[in-house]
Amino acid sequence: MKRILFAASEGVPFIKTGGLADVVGSLPKELDSRYFDVRVVLPKYMCMKQEIKDRLEYVAHFYMDFHFKEEYVGVLKAVEDGITFYFVDNEYFFGGDRPYGNDTVWEITKFAFFSKALLSILPVIDFRPDVIHCHDWQTGLVPVYLHERFAGGSFFRGIKSIMTIHNLKFQGVWDVKTVKEITGLPDYYFTPDKLEYFKDVNLLKGGLVFADAITTVSKTYAEEIKTDYYGEKLNGLLNARTNDLRGIVNGIDYDEYNPKTDKFLAHHYDVTTFRREKIKNKRKLQADLGLEQDDKKFMIGLVSRLTDQKGLDLVSYMMDEICSDNLQFVVLGTGEERYENMFRHFDWKYKDKVSANIYYSEDISHKIYASCDAFLMPSLFEPCGLSQLIALRYGTVPIVRETGGLKDTVEPYNEYENKGTGFSFANYNAHEMLATIRYAERIFYTKKRDWNKIVERAMQADFSWKVSANKYQEMYDWLIG
Ligand code: ADP
Ligand code: GLC
Repeated sequence: MKRILFAASEGVPFIKTGGLADVVGSLPKELDSRYFDVRVVLPKYMCMKQEIKDRLEYVAHFYMDFHFKEEYVGVLKAVEDGITFYFVDNEYFFGGDRPYGNDTVWEITKFAFFSKALLSILPVIDFRPDVIHCHDWQTGLVPVYLHERFAGGSFFRGIKSIMTIHNLKFQGVWDVKTVKEITGLPDYYFTPDKLEYFKDVNLLKGGLVFADAITTVSKTYAEEIKTDYYGEKLNGLLNARTNDLRGIVNGIDYDEYNPKTDKFLAHHYDVTTFRREKIKNKRKLQADLGLEQDDKKFMIGLVSRLTDQKGLDLVSYMMDEICSDNLQFVVLGTGEERYENMFRHFDWKYKDKVSANIYYSEDISHKIYASCDAFLMPSLFEPCGLSQLIALRYGTVPIVRETGGLKDTVEPYNEYENKGTGFSFANYNAHEMLATIRYAERIFYTKKRDWNKIVERAMQADFSWKVSANKYQEMYDWLIG
């Protein structure tokens, strides 16, 4: 049995802010349990829902030396779909009403604590992984600590590590003096070939230097991040490690996201019944959100963190134009205030056309994926993107910009060959986006049979985890030898 430990800052169903949580919650159970014993470690945040916290069982606790103090490390656990999740408990570090905050030094401190603690709990829970699979900058110090203080003891010797980049934009960067104090790492690590990054320290870079292998979440993004434009000033390093870097596209949980069984939907459907049944969800959503009730109206959905990554500058620039068309626009998201207010404004201005839902809701998100005709995702960059995969699964035709995982997962419609699962445009340009939305609209209104064929192909595209889980397994096998 090969032992794999996932280390991450969020995971479904325990805590989620974005797609990382979906991946960490769904990939472990897709790995073949006959050969792999996969477990996950997450922080225990105070802001987790009470019903989740009530499920966690106490395992052990001890004190760990961290940042000149002895800090409490509690270990809790819960089993979900056969996978054991461990939780590092410390109310001082993981308090607050959200998993992440805006104070960078504090974020670095708490995830440095998490990274060190998750290694320290392993002898206590008697689980020696063959591979620690780290996700994003919050766990970037794990390969570094593994290299430094833990390599001496026989328990940790030979443990391999993988760093998976879900988003290169976030790196955990601060000045050398402060990070040296927080992490307790010796001077050896603070050089430009290791953690130093333009005179500061970069935690993700530490992970990328010391991990045995690097992955990211689509083939196109794996290439993009080696360029100046997408490389976030780590492209030099990523080029140097190009032989250890691979792109493995994400899947989604086909049980959780299934229009035939989805518990949030009043009307279920599949690829054979969507022509009759999908529309009933649309009708209900129009009523629920106070939009004009009209089966025929082209309805576009957008479910997203509201940040500039998601191409919302283009949307904001074109919103009046979009709303001058015969369509409806349903938004669900939270994030930067300027985007939240922008959507609230257009909701006020175009009452019966635009519905801005500025909050987080699993329930409404599923209803939007199921009800809309098209799903807009014009991202500036997109490592993989899960929303378009969910939209495809629900027969809601994605309109995307050709970047990262969007390019790899949405096949552009070809009117002449009757191919494709969505609509796409190449450049980060508002007029190109508008033209593409209008093209989709035209096919919807004037070539309904062709539109339905697109929906059918979208629903038949397979983005379950099967193929990608296999690629991770091959990588684990290769690393462990
Ligand atoms: P990212 O991880 O960059 O946010 P992804 O497309 O990979 O983008 O994943 C986003 C996930 O978060 C999807 O499952 C999407 O449905 C969900 N999501 C985003 N915003 C909300 C929201 N306001 N309410 C419910 N789910 C949301
Ligand atoms: C990040 C990326 C998103 C990706 C997700 C899961 O949040 O922004 O594109 O799908 O991680 O890998």
